[in-house]
Amino acid sequence: MIEIKDVTKSYGRHKVLQNVSFEIMEGELFGLLGPNGAGKSTLIDILTGIQSMDSGEIFINGKSIKTDKVEIRKQLGLVPQDIALLEELNAFDNLEYFGGLYGLAGQELKSQIEKLLEVAGLTDKKKEKVKNYSGGMKRRLNIAVAMLHNPSILILDEPTVGVDAQSRQHIFDYIQSLAEQGTTILYTSHYMEEIETLCKRVFILDLGEEVAYGTKEEVKKLVGHTQTVSLTLDRVPAGFDEVLKNSENGIQFVTVNGQDIALTIDQTIFSMMKLIEQVEQAQLVIKSVNVKETTLEEAFLQLTGKTLRD
Ligand SMILES: Nc1ncnc2c1ncn2[C@@H]1O[C@H](COP(=O)(O)OP(=O)(O)OP(=O)(O)O)[C@@H](O)[C@H]1O
Ligand SMILES: [Mg+2]
Repeated sequence: MIEIKDVTKSYGRHKVLQNVSFEIMEGELFGLLGPNGAGKSTLIDILTGIQSMDSGEIFINGKSIKTDKVEIRKQLGLVPQDIALLEELNAFDNLEYFGGLYGLAGQELKSQIEKLLEVAGLTDKKKEKVKNYSGGMKRRLNIAVAMLHNPSILILDEPTVGVDAQSRQHIFDYIQSLAEQGTTILYTSHYMEEIETLCKRVFILDLGEEVAYGTKEEVKKLVGHTQTVSLTLDRVPAGFDEVLKNSENGIQFVTVNGQDIALTIDQTIFSMMKLIEQVEQAQLVIKSVNVKETTLEEAFLQLTGKTLRD
Protein backbone atom coordinates (compact mmCIF):
# COMPACT_ATOMS: atom_id res chain seq x y z
CA MET A 1 0.00 0.00 0.00
CA ILE A 2 2.82 2.43 0.89
CA GLU A 3 6.15 1.56 -0.72
CA ILE A 4 9.14 3.68 0.21
CA LYS A 5 12.11 2.89 -2.00
CA ASP A 6 15.68 4.16 -1.57
CA VAL A 7 14.63 7.60 -0.42
CA THR A 8 17.61 9.92 -0.06
CA LYS A 9 17.57 13.55 1.02
CA SER A 10 20.25 16.09 1.90
CA TYR A 11 20.04 19.61 3.21
CA GLY A 12 23.18 21.17 1.81
CA ARG A 13 25.98 18.76 2.65
CA HIS A 14 24.02 17.21 5.49
CA LYS A 15 22.60 13.80 4.52
CA VAL A 16 19.30 13.57 6.37
CA LEU A 17 17.96 10.37 4.75
CA GLN A 18 20.05 7.68 3.10
CA ASN A 19 18.49 4.90 1.05
CA VAL A 20 15.47 4.51 3.27
CA SER A 21 13.22 1.67 2.11
CA PHE A 22 10.23 0.01 3.74
CA GLU A 23 6.64 -0.95 3.08
CA ILE A 24 3.45 -0.42 5.01
CA MET A 25 0.57 -2.79 4.36
CA GLU A 26 -3.05 -1.86 4.01
CA GLY A 27 -4.80 -1.48 7.36
CA GLU A 28 -1.52 -1.76 9.27
CA LEU A 29 -0.55 0.30 12.33
CA PHE A 30 3.13 0.70 11.51
CA GLY A 31 5.80 2.25 13.75
CA LEU A 32 8.55 4.62 12.62
CA LEU A 33 11.01 4.97 15.42
CA GLY A 34 14.11 7.07 15.87
CA PRO A 35 15.82 9.52 18.23
CA ASN A 36 15.81 13.31 17.80
CA GLY A 37 17.16 14.33 14.43
CA ALA A 38 16.91 10.83 12.94
CA GLY A 39 14.99 12.15 9.94
CA LYS A 40 11.44 11.07 10.84
CA SER A 41 9.76 14.41 10.15
CA THR A 42 11.75 14.84 6.95
CA LEU A 43 10.51 11.47 5.70
CA ILE A 44 6.94 12.44 6.59
CA ASP A 45 7.36 15.78 4.81
CA ILE A 46 8.46 13.89 1.71
CA LEU A 47 5.61 11.40 2.01
CA THR A 48 3.06 14.18 2.26
CA GLY A 49 4.57 16.25 -0.55
CA ILE A 50 5.77 19.12 1.65
CA GLN A 51 9.38 18.36 0.72
CA SER A 52 10.91 16.73 -2.33
CA MET A 53 13.39 13.85 -2.24
CA ASP A 54 16.76 13.93 -3.99
CA SER A 55 16.40 10.37 -5.22
CA GLY A 56 14.20 7.36 -4.63
CA GLU A 57 10.52 6.64 -5.11
CA ILE A 58 7.39 6.43 -3.04
CA PHE A 59 4.28 4.62 -4.25
CA ILE A 60 0.93 4.84 -2.53
CA ASN A 61 -1.60 2.32 -3.81
CA GLY A 62 0.63 1.87 -6.82
CA LYS A 63 0.71 5.59 -7.65
CA SER A 64 3.94 7.60 -7.54
CA ILE A 65 3.98 10.63 -5.28
CA LYS A 66 6.01 12.37 -7.93
CA THR A 67 3.34 12.16 -10.61
CA ASP A 68 0.06 11.74 -8.70
CA LYS A 69 0.60 14.25 -5.90
CA VAL A 70 -2.90 15.73 -5.87
CA GLU A 71 -4.73 12.42 -5.83
CA ILE A 72 -2.44 11.01 -3.15
CA ARG A 73 -2.90 14.04 -0.89
CA LYS A 74 -6.63 13.25 -0.74
CA GLN A 75 -5.87 9.83 0.70
CA LEU A 76 -3.52 11.17 3.38
CA GLY A 77 -4.32 12.66 6.77
CA LEU A 78 -1.40 14.31 8.56
CA VAL A 79 -1.06 15.11 12.23
CA PRO A 80 2.04 17.32 12.28
CA GLN A 81 4.58 17.38 15.09
CA ASP A 82 3.50 20.91 16.02
CA ILE A 83 -0.17 21.26 16.85
CA ALA A 84 -2.06 23.50 14.44
CA LEU A 85 -5.40 24.68 15.83
CA LEU A 86 -7.27 27.94 16.26
CA GLU A 87 -6.96 28.54 20.00
CA GLU A 88 -9.78 31.09 20.28
CA LEU A 89 -12.33 28.76 18.71
CA ASN A 90 -14.01 25.72 20.26
CA ALA A 91 -13.53 22.16 18.97
CA PHE A 92 -16.63 22.15 16.81
CA ASP A 93 -15.74 25.44 15.14
CA ASN A 94 -12.16 24.29 14.55
CA LEU A 95 -13.43 21.20 12.77
CA GLU A 96 -15.90 23.27 10.78
CA TYR A 97 -13.14 25.69 9.76
CA PHE A 98 -10.67 22.99 8.68
CA GLY A 99 -13.48 21.02 7.04
CA GLY A 100 -14.17 24.12 4.94
CA LEU A 101 -10.55 24.12 3.82
CA TYR A 102 -11.05 20.57 2.57
CA GLY A 103 -14.13 21.74 0.67
CA LEU A 104 -16.58 20.02 3.02
CA ALA A 105 -19.82 21.77 3.99
CA GLY A 106 -23.42 21.45 5.10
CA GLN A 107 -25.04 18.46 6.76
CA GLU A 108 -22.34 16.10 5.53
CA LEU A 109 -19.68 18.11 7.36
CA LYS A 110 -21.82 18.46 10.52
CA SER A 111 -22.40 14.73 10.84
CA GLN A 112 -18.73 14.03 10.11
CA ILE A 113 -17.77 16.48 12.89
CA GLU A 114 -20.15 14.86 15.40
CA LYS A 115 -18.77 11.43 14.53
CA LEU A 116 -15.15 12.56 14.90
CA LEU A 117 -15.82 14.38 18.19
CA GLU A 118 -17.34 11.17 19.51
CA VAL A 119 -14.41 8.93 18.49
CA ALA A 120 -11.94 11.53 19.81
CA GLY A 121 -13.81 11.58 23.14
CA LEU A 122 -14.40 15.33 22.89
CA THR A 123 -18.19 15.53 22.50
CA ASP A 124 -18.64 16.88 26.05
CA LYS A 125 -16.06 19.60 25.44
CA LYS A 126 -17.01 20.62 21.93
CA LYS A 127 -18.20 24.10 22.97
CA GLU A 128 -15.10 24.86 25.02
CA LYS A 129 -12.37 27.12 23.63
CA VAL A 130 -9.34 25.12 22.52
CA LYS A 131 -6.98 27.38 24.49
CA ASN A 132 -8.44 25.84 27.67
CA TYR A 133 -7.75 22.29 26.47
CA SER A 134 -5.00 20.05 27.87
CA GLY A 135 -2.14 19.00 25.57
CA GLY A 136 -3.75 15.60 25.10
CA MET A 137 -7.15 17.04 24.17
CA LYS A 138 -5.54 19.35 21.63
CA ARG A 139 -3.73 16.40 20.16
CA ARG A 140 -6.94 14.39 19.84
CA LEU A 141 -8.61 17.33 18.16
CA ASN A 142 -5.65 17.60 15.81
CA ILE A 143 -6.09 13.93 14.89
CA ALA A 144 -9.81 14.56 14.31
CA VAL A 145 -8.89 17.45 11.98
CA ALA A 146 -6.62 15.12 10.02
CA MET A 147 -9.50 12.61 9.68
CA LEU A 148 -12.09 15.11 8.40
CA HIS A 149 -11.80 14.11 4.74
CA ASN A 150 -11.89 10.38 5.57
CA PRO A 151 -8.33 9.61 4.50
CA SER A 152 -7.40 5.95 4.12
CA ILE A 153 -3.93 6.70 5.53
CA LEU A 154 -3.20 8.61 8.72
CA ILE A 155 0.32 9.84 9.48
CA LEU A 156 1.09 10.85 13.05
CA ASP A 157 4.32 12.70 13.84
CA GLU A 158 5.11 12.18 17.54
CA PRO A 159 1.52 12.68 18.75
CA THR A 160 2.22 12.11 22.44
CA VAL A 161 5.01 14.61 23.06
CA GLY A 162 4.03 16.87 25.98
CA VAL A 163 1.02 14.75 26.88
CA ASP A 164 0.34 13.26 30.34
CA ALA A 165 -0.04 9.50 30.83
CA GLN A 166 -3.83 9.45 31.03
CA SER A 167 -4.27 11.58 27.92
CA ARG A 168 -1.74 9.39 26.19
CA GLN A 169 -3.94 6.37 26.81
CA HIS A 170 -6.88 8.29 25.31
CA ILE A 171 -4.82 9.04 22.21
CA PHE A 172 -3.81 5.37 21.95
CA ASP A 173 -7.45 4.27 22.24
CA TYR A 174 -8.39 6.75 19.54
CA ILE A 175 -5.61 5.58 17.20
CA GLN A 176 -6.46 1.94 17.81
CA SER A 177 -10.12 2.52 17.05
CA LEU A 178 -9.16 4.24 13.78
CA ALA A 179 -6.95 1.26 12.93
CA GLU A 180 -9.80 -1.14 13.70
CA GLN A 181 -11.99 0.82 11.30
CA GLY A 182 -9.45 0.08 8.56
CA THR A 183 -7.28 3.20 8.47
CA THR A 184 -3.64 2.52 7.57
CA ILE A 185 -1.52 4.32 10.15
CA LEU A 186 2.10 5.45 10.24
CA TYR A 187 2.89 6.15 13.87
CA THR A 188 6.08 8.07 14.59
CA SER A 189 7.70 8.25 17.97
CA HIS A 190 10.96 8.21 19.87
CA TYR A 191 9.25 6.38 22.70
CA MET A 192 10.07 2.74 22.21
CA GLU A 193 7.38 1.48 24.58
CA GLU A 194 4.69 3.27 22.56
CA ILE A 195 5.71 1.45 19.40
CA GLU A 196 5.89 -1.76 21.38
CA THR A 197 2.33 -1.27 22.64
CA LEU A 198 0.73 -0.12 19.39
CA CYS A 199 2.57 -1.63 16.44
CA LYS A 200 3.42 -5.09 15.17
CA ARG A 201 6.01 -3.94 12.67
CA VAL A 202 8.55 -1.18 12.96
CA PHE A 203 11.24 0.67 11.03
CA ILE A 204 14.04 2.05 13.16
CA LEU A 205 15.84 5.09 11.78
CA ASP A 206 19.00 6.65 13.18
CA LEU A 207 20.99 9.49 11.57
CA GLY A 208 18.99 9.00 8.37
CA GLU A 209 19.77 5.33 7.99
CA GLU A 210 17.97 2.06 8.63
CA VAL A 211 18.94 0.43 11.89
CA ALA A 212 16.32 -2.30 11.83
CA TYR A 213 13.10 -3.18 10.03
CA GLY A 214 10.56 -5.92 10.60
CA THR A 215 8.28 -7.27 13.28
CA LYS A 216 9.18 -6.42 16.87
CA GLU A 217 10.29 -10.02 17.33
CA GLU A 218 12.55 -9.86 14.27
CA VAL A 219 14.11 -6.62 15.48
CA LYS A 220 14.82 -8.13 18.87
CA LYS A 221 16.31 -11.23 17.22
CA LEU A 222 18.69 -9.00 15.26
CA VAL A 223 20.58 -8.37 18.45
CA GLY A 224 20.85 -12.12 18.87
CA HIS A 225 19.29 -12.62 22.29
CA THR A 226 15.86 -12.44 23.71
CA GLN A 227 16.13 -12.10 27.45
CA THR A 228 17.22 -9.71 30.14
CA VAL A 229 18.18 -10.90 33.60
CA SER A 230 17.81 -8.28 36.33
CA LEU A 231 19.68 -8.89 39.55
CA THR A 232 19.71 -6.94 42.79
CA LEU A 233 22.73 -7.66 45.00
CA ASP A 234 23.69 -6.44 48.48
CA ARG A 235 26.46 -4.49 46.75
CA VAL A 236 28.24 -4.42 43.39
CA PRO A 237 32.03 -4.26 43.66
CA ALA A 238 33.94 -2.27 41.04
CA GLY A 239 34.81 -4.38 38.02
CA PHE A 240 32.16 -7.01 38.73
CA ASP A 241 30.44 -6.15 35.43
CA GLU A 242 33.63 -7.14 33.59
CA VAL A 243 33.84 -10.37 35.58
CA LEU A 244 30.32 -11.28 34.49
CA LYS A 245 30.91 -10.29 30.88
CA ASN A 246 34.02 -12.44 30.68
CA SER A 247 32.49 -15.48 32.32
CA GLU A 248 31.66 -17.30 29.05
CA ASN A 249 28.07 -17.55 30.19
CA GLY A 250 26.39 -15.96 27.17
CA ILE A 251 26.32 -12.53 28.83
CA GLN A 252 26.53 -9.92 26.07
CA PHE A 253 25.78 -6.69 27.81
CA VAL A 254 25.97 -5.56 31.44
CA THR A 255 24.51 -2.39 32.93
CA VAL A 256 25.09 -1.54 36.58
CA ASN A 257 22.90 0.92 38.41
CA GLY A 258 23.66 1.05 42.14
CA GLN A 259 22.90 -2.43 43.49
CA ASP A 260 21.01 -3.41 40.34
CA ILE A 261 22.59 -5.26 37.44
CA ALA A 262 20.88 -5.85 34.10
CA LEU A 263 22.32 -8.61 31.93
CA THR A 264 21.41 -9.17 28.34
CA ILE A 265 21.84 -12.86 27.77
CA ASP A 266 21.93 -15.32 24.92
CA GLN A 267 19.41 -17.89 26.04
CA THR A 268 21.14 -20.69 24.18
CA ILE A 269 24.31 -20.32 26.28
CA PHE A 270 23.34 -18.71 29.57
CA SER A 271 23.13 -20.81 32.73
CA MET A 272 21.47 -19.32 35.82
CA MET A 273 23.31 -21.85 38.02
CA LYS A 274 26.64 -20.58 36.76
CA LEU A 275 25.63 -16.97 37.46
CA ILE A 276 24.56 -17.79 41.01
CA GLU A 277 27.84 -19.65 41.64
CA GLN A 278 29.80 -16.64 40.44
CA VAL A 279 27.91 -14.25 42.66
CA GLU A 280 28.53 -16.53 45.64
CA GLN A 281 32.20 -16.86 44.81
CA ALA A 282 32.47 -13.08 44.97
CA GLN A 283 30.79 -13.29 48.40
CA LEU A 284 27.81 -11.25 47.32
CA VAL A 285 24.19 -11.81 48.28
CA ILE A 286 21.36 -11.93 45.74
CA LYS A 287 18.34 -9.91 46.91
CA SER A 288 16.22 -10.60 43.86
CA VAL A 289 16.38 -12.07 40.36
CA ASN A 290 14.02 -11.45 37.50
CA VAL A 291 14.10 -12.72 33.92
CA LYS A 292 12.12 -11.05 31.18
CA GLU A 293 11.95 -10.65 27.41
CA THR A 294 14.32 -8.06 25.99
CA THR A 295 12.40 -4.88 25.22
CA LEU A 296 12.70 -2.97 21.96
CA GLU A 297 14.39 -0.21 23.97
CA GLU A 298 17.15 -2.60 24.99
CA ALA A 299 17.41 -3.91 21.43
CA PHE A 300 17.80 -0.36 20.14
CA LEU A 301 20.45 0.43 22.73
CA GLN A 302 22.52 -2.43 21.44
CA LEU A 303 21.97 -1.76 17.76
CA THR A 304 22.99 1.88 18.04
CA GLY A 305 24.91 2.12 21.31
CA LYS A 306 22.64 4.89 22.52
CA THR A 307 19.37 5.40 24.27
CA LEU A 308 16.40 6.90 22.47
CA ARG A 309 15.78 9.71 24.87
CA ASP A 310 18.40 12.36 24.66
N1 LIG B 1 14.71 22.51 6.50
C1 LIG B 1 15.85 22.01 6.97
N2 LIG B 1 17.05 22.54 6.64
C2 LIG B 1 18.19 22.01 7.08
N3 LIG B 1 18.29 20.95 7.91
C3 LIG B 1 17.14 20.38 8.28
C4 LIG B 1 15.86 20.87 7.84
N4 LIG B 1 14.90 20.08 8.39
C5 LIG B 1 15.54 19.16 9.12
N5 LIG B 1 16.88 19.33 9.07
C6 LIG B 1 17.89 18.47 9.73
O1 LIG B 1 17.64 17.15 9.35
C7 LIG B 1 17.83 16.25 10.41
C8 LIG B 1 16.59 15.43 10.62
O2 LIG B 1 15.55 16.26 11.11
P1 LIG B 1 14.08 15.74 11.34
O3 LIG B 1 13.29 16.88 11.84
O4 LIG B 1 13.61 15.04 10.12
O5 LIG B 1 14.32 14.67 12.51
P2 LIG B 1 13.26 13.96 13.44
O6 LIG B 1 13.61 12.52 13.44
O7 LIG B 1 11.88 14.34 13.06
O8 LIG B 1 13.64 14.56 14.86
P3 LIG B 1 12.70 14.99 16.11
O9 LIG B 1 12.52 13.74 16.93
O10 LIG B 1 13.56 15.98 16.83
O11 LIG B 1 11.43 15.56 15.59
C9 LIG B 1 18.22 17.08 11.61
O12 LIG B 1 19.61 17.04 11.75
C10 LIG B 1 17.74 18.48 11.24
O13 LIG B 1 18.56 19.44 11.83
MG1 LIG C 1 10.37 15.26 14.01
